[in-house]
Amino acid sequence: MTVPMKAGAAAFIKKSAKVVNQVIKGRGNGSNGGDNFNYYHPLPGPTGFPVLGHLPLIDSVAPHLTLNKWARIYGPVYKLKFGLIPAVVLSDPSIIAQAFSKPQSTGRPPLFVTTGIMEGNGIISVDGALWKEQRRMVIHCLRQLEDLKTAQGKSDLDKLIEENVDSIVEKFGRHGESTFDVHPLIRFVISNMMSKIVFGRSYSEDDSEYSRQLDLCDMGSNLVQMTNWVNYFPGLRHVFHFHDAYEALKSSKTEHHEFLMRILQQQIYRKRDSPSAVIDFYIKEMFKNEYNVDDPATRNQMIHLLADVFGSASDTIKLTLKWALLHLVARPDIQEKVQYELDSVVGRGRNPTIDDMFALPYTTATVLEANRMANVTPLGLPHWTLDDMPLSYYLIPKGTMIISLLYAVHMDPNYWQCPVLFMPERFLDESRNVVKPFQFMPYSYGQRNCFGEHLAEKTLFLLIAHILHRFTLEYPTEGEEPDFRPMPGFTVSPRIYKLKAIHRPN
Ligand code: HEM
Repeated sequence: MTVPMKAGAAAFIKKSAKVVNQVIKGRGNGSNGGDNFNYYHPLPGPTGFPVLGHLPLIDSVAPHLTLNKWARIYGPVYKLKFGLIPAVVLSDPSIIAQAFSKPQSTGRPPLFVTTGIMEGNGIISVDGALWKEQRRMVIHCLRQLEDLKTAQGKSDLDKLIEENVDSIVEKFGRHGESTFDVHPLIRFVISNMMSKIVFGRSYSEDDSEYSRQLDLCDMGSNLVQMTNWVNYFPGLRHVFHFHDAYEALKSSKTEHHEFLMRILQQQIYRKRDSPSAVIDFYIKEMFKNEYNVDDPATRNQMIHLLADVFGSASDTIKLTLKWALLHLVARPDIQEKVQYELDSVVGRGRNPTIDDMFALPYTTATVLEANRMANVTPLGLPHWTLDDMPLSYYLIPKGTMIISLLYAVHMDPNYWQCPVLFMPERFLDESRNVVKPFQFMPYSYGQRNCFGEHLAEKTLFLLIAHILHRFTLEYPTEGEEPDFRPMPGFTVSPRIYKLKAIHRPN
């Protein structure tokens, strides 16, 4: 009797020592030792309600604040339940990077509204072979677009961005020194620029059909937020306010897609000798890959993909710019530093261009800081495990929703000194070179990261550089406090605010 007991105890001690050793090793090297575990820890997490899970406990306007509060209590990996859907929340950059580098995490959750309404089309809501193929194609299209050159050897895309940025500056200038609401102006210019890049066409300010499309996109973001519970309890779509919101979401999507379908129909058999937008390259790729572009299912996929690219690009850039201007208007000292750099490097005689970016580190750092503080997608986009996935000391089962709490990453005092302060200097090293630390991840990380990062950075850089080159931004009333509270929505917007753009003499 005694012998096997001793052997069992020895085996247990040996196994425990191995686990402790691995845990210590894992901690020591940034918690990447998890994959070799033969023992996983149970996932921590707050107690939720039966059936409803944690849904009633989460702030509906700012869910990232509730999730961040729990991250401080339960650590960088914890579990939740949204109705019956199991979820894991990640709030440490190295753990997010580790998770999102694995093929198991490249799924999207089968949520009734956000995924269901797309009916398995597009890029954002799909996974598997279709996602891989379409992502590869659209990245190739963007590269081809970036490679187009004007006769002077300048990138066509850069020229297009510069022209649109000029138009925003001209529109700021129209207000003289009077107070104005920046939101409609930014919405129009950014969407128009993205429409030109994605669909090859832009619209005039008084085009009521186009304005209607922009209203539909804005409405969509709010309706997605309002129908969040329907994602987990689909039956709710028949009752209360969920019914109206769900029906409105479906009909606004149908109306928007009909508009886009008309564009696609006009483009599809057009001669494409000189492609100039994502749509041209994408149609070419679809032909090349032997898709039957007359098949309604293929057309449906094409519309969803183009809508996904146009929507994600317009919404995120527009919101980041609105947050950036709100921070800048609150910080005249930072405006001064950017203006000093612009005046010294670019001078007053010409506009800044994308080619100036490397010579303008403080301006570039201001853009990165605006990105960090804006947190326009504070929860990233949810992923879904397609298979069991070891992560750190845990095993995340197949069929778990993964939330990357990017807000927590960007507000973590262990990674950022005084994270609530707007401080572009944190992106500069001692030699004033721009550095992007590992924990900077507004575009997420890994196999499903945002491929629009380069385009977004260039656009935001030019917008901020042009605006501050020409104007000093002021609050309408001296001493007024900026309101940094977010508006409810799928992506996070600041509340409506007004400012004055005071012209700087040449
Ligand atoms: C400030 C600007 C932007 C921010 C902060 C941003 C952020 C993000 C984030 C956090 C994701 C989720 C990645 C994940 O699932 O882990 C994402 C995905 C995506 N973004 Fe962006 N984005 C921006 C601009 C753009 C632009 C300019 C484009 C278009 C060229 C774009 C197109 C997309 C698409 C299509 C996806 C889905 C990728 C996939 O599912 O594989 N984004 N973006």
